[in-house]
Amino acid sequence: MFSAKGNRLPGLMPLLLLTTLLCFVVGIVLPRLTAITPSAPLHLILALGIMPLIFGAMIYFVPVLTRSGSPEPKVLLSIYGAMLAGVILTTSLLLIFKLYLLAAVIALLAVAGLSYWMQQRARQSFGSPHPGLLWYRLALLLLGAALVAIILASLWPQQWLNLRRLHLHLNILGFVGLTALGTLRVLLPTVGSFQDMNAGPWLMHEWRLLFAGTLLIAVGAAWFPPITLAGLLLWLIPLGRLAYGLLWLKRRKLWLADGAAPSLATASIGLIISLLLGAAHGLGWLATTHMSELFILMFLMPLVSGAATHLLPLWLWPGAQTEQQNRSRTTLGRFALIRSMLFQLSGMLLIFDLPWSWLPAMVAMAQFLSVALWQTTNKAVVQE
Ligand code: HEM
Ligand code: HEM
Repeated sequence: MFSAKGNRLPGLMPLLLLTTLLCFVVGIVLPRLTAITPSAPLHLILALGIMPLIFGAMIYFVPVLTRSGSPEPKVLLSIYGAMLAGVILTTSLLLIFKLYLLAAVIALLAVAGLSYWMQQRARQSFGSPHPGLLWYRLALLLLGAALVAIILASLWPQQWLNLRRLHLHLNILGFVGLTALGTLRVLLPTVGSFQDMNAGPWLMHEWRLLFAGTLLIAVGAAWFPPITLAGLLLWLIPLGRLAYGLLWLKRRKLWLADGAAPSLATASIGLIISLLLGAAHGLGWLATTHMSELFILMFLMPLVSGAATHLLPLWLWPGAQTEQQNRSRTTLGRFALIRSMLFQLSGMLLIFDLPWSWLPAMVAMAQFLSVALWQTTNKAVVQE
């Protein structure tokens, strides 16, 4: 890991994480209590919570992937830009719709800045950069394309619905999907404490299938649904290899362990289930208005809580403070499997549109949020 001295990122990451956890709770509960347009709470989670958190995680990992020094303070501007875009966008979807264009332009500038920084880091890399860097760069490219699509939609109202579908699939599968999978492949062996010799080759080759699959699903959902099935197949090949190589062959290390491992393993299963449900929804076999919430419950919630169980202690106690890190990880990881099952249960109940389907996930998320908050504030008090 890089030196913590003068590096403000580890201090910022817990705040980004807590904001995302809070957005999960508010974004799922609010539409059940009030009659607001669903896209506002969805973007509260995805644009105000997840987007800046992903930017932060990328900036945290890129120096490791390129074996270069701590991030320069000015690259943190991309995180602040993403947060500002998230605030403007959520307000705009609630109050003044057209303002979303301003949010899109700010987010595009943040994406351009972060991509430029990654390119610089790739050049300065000591040896060739880890293949995970390419995944992050492609994910940003797809987020940029999704933003351009939603800007074009305002100029081309006849194509609004199509471009909106392009925007959402590029974001969900391209931006979030590629970042999450690129990180998961490295994180799963780390949290399960085993060697994974296939991680490098998998990261080196499988991005092609996932990138092409994302384009086929996004363009297909927008204009020509039959090609989405080819996209689904391209997604399922690398995911199948990941599930067999890690979730099955290393099952004892991942499922029986306490802590981050079962959450991340459940998230991988949740991703496969939500892809299949997404395809069934696209084909008209599954009538739900909650497809994006299903993805959030079954994939993003176990993913973020699992990754945070491993990473929050590193951010709170950077460097070689392993004893505190391990203690904090044990506390955060308690009930991890039960929590992940509650997220999946809520997703399943939501398919049938049952009232209170959201309750199990919210109990789990509220528990994790309070432990994460307690760890963060406890650290602040100890430091004083
Ligand atoms: C600042 C960045 C963003 C802007 C300006 C933006 C803008 C929009 C707009 C205007 C819509 C249509 C809303 C409607 O018809 O009511 C939309 C839909 C959507 N966007 Fe975004 N978005 C952004 C970021 C994201 C991100 C990061 C994600 C996912 C990771 C995302 C996922 C979605 C989804 C799932 C929908 C469909 C919502 C629904 O079904 O109600 N967006 N976006
Ligand atoms: C897993 C994450 C996914 C999410 C969150 C998601 C979400 C959505 C949403 C909210 C819509 C409705 C858009 C609108 O209001 O017009 C939609 C439409 C569509 N999706 Fe997805 N989707 C996902 C995955 C997939 C996959 C894997 C496929 C195909 C393999 C797919 C194919 C389609 C198609 C074809 C449509 C258009 C349906 C129509 O014509 O009514 N989606 N998706």
